[in-house]
Amino acid sequence: MLAWGVVAALAAACSSLQQGSLAPKGAGAQRQLDLFYVSLWASTAVVLLTLGLLGYALFRRRRDDDEERFRDTRFIVSFGVVIPLVVLLSMMVVTFASLAGEPQRGTMEVQVVAHQFWWEVFYPEQDFTTANEVHIPVGTKVELVLESDDVIHSFWVPELEGKADLVPGRTNRLVLEASEPGTYRGFCAEYCGLQHANMLFLVIAQPEAEFEEWAAAQARPAAVQDSRGEELFEEHACAGCHTIRGTSADGDFAPDLTHFASRETLGAGILPNERGQLAGWVVNSQTIKPGNEMPPITTLEPDELEALVDYLEKLE
Ligand code: CUA
Repeated sequence: MLAWGVVAALAAACSSLQQGSLAPKGAGAQRQLDLFYVSLWASTAVVLLTLGLLGYALFRRRRDDDEERFRDTRFIVSFGVVIPLVVLLSMMVVTFASLAGEPQRGTMEVQVVAHQFWWEVFYPEQDFTTANEVHIPVGTKVELVLESDDVIHSFWVPELEGKADLVPGRTNRLVLEASEPGTYRGFCAEYCGLQHANMLFLVIAQPEAEFEEWAAAQARPAAVQDSRGEELFEEHACAGCHTIRGTSADGDFAPDLTHFASRETLGAGILPNERGQLAGWVVNSQTIKPGNEMPPITTLEPDELEALVDYLEKLE
C-alpha cells in the first residue's frame, strides 16, 4: 500500500512539473520518442532472443559429431554475425532517417544567450530583450540561435525538443516547435557551476495573435511613471547592471527588467514572481541562490525597499 502511495505521489509530482520527454508536445520531442520506442522494442526482442538461446544452449543434449559441429558453426555465424549486423544496421538507418527529419531552419528567429545562471532572450525582428522566458507562437518553427557568455550550458525543454549546447565562441541552432499552447518547463542540462540546478526557464507557446500582442507589448519601453522608484533603482546601483528601457537604467550585465512584472518567475525560474519573494531577492538574493552575480543590497531602508518593490511590480 505504502509503495503504491509513493508511486502515485511521484506520478502526480511528475505530471505537474510538465517536463516529461515521454509526453511530447512538439515535433522534435515526438521524433525522439518514436526513435526511443523503436530502440526499446528492438533491444527487448534482442534480450528475449538471447535469453531463449541461452536456455537452449543450457538444456540441449550434445552429440559431438561432425554434423553437429557444422550446425554449431552455422549457428554462430548467423546469430553472432549476421543477425547483429542486420539489427545494428537497421537501427542506424532508422536513426539517420530521424536525424534527416530534423528541420534545419525556422520561419522566426530568437536569440538565447546563456549566463551563469540565467537566460537572456532576444527577439531580433521586434528588437527587444527579455529573460528566462521564451514565448513562441504555436505551430511555428522557431529557430533558436544559441550562444554562451561564459561556460558551456545546455538548453533543454523535454516536452518540445532535444538538448542543444550553448558553447562560448560558437553559435548553435535549434528549431523549436510546439504543437499545443501551454507553458513548458526548460532547464540547463549541462553542469555550469554552483547554481546549475537553478538555471530554469519557461517556454510559453501561445496562439499566433496572443504571441503578437505579447511581443508588441514587450517591444514598448516601460510605461511606468514613478520617479521615486527610478531614483532608487539608480541610487542603489541596480541600474549599473539592469536595463529598464525608457529610463536611464541601461546596464547590460543582468536581466532586462523593462517588463519584469509580466514574467511568471523570478531568479531564473526558481521562484514565483510575487511581492514577498521579490523583496527577499532584492535585499539578498545570495541567501536564495548562492553564487549568482547579484550582490546583496545592504543600503536599502525599509520604506525604500517598499517603494522599489512597488516600482518593479508596476513594470508590466
Ligand atoms: Cu547553465 Cu547548467
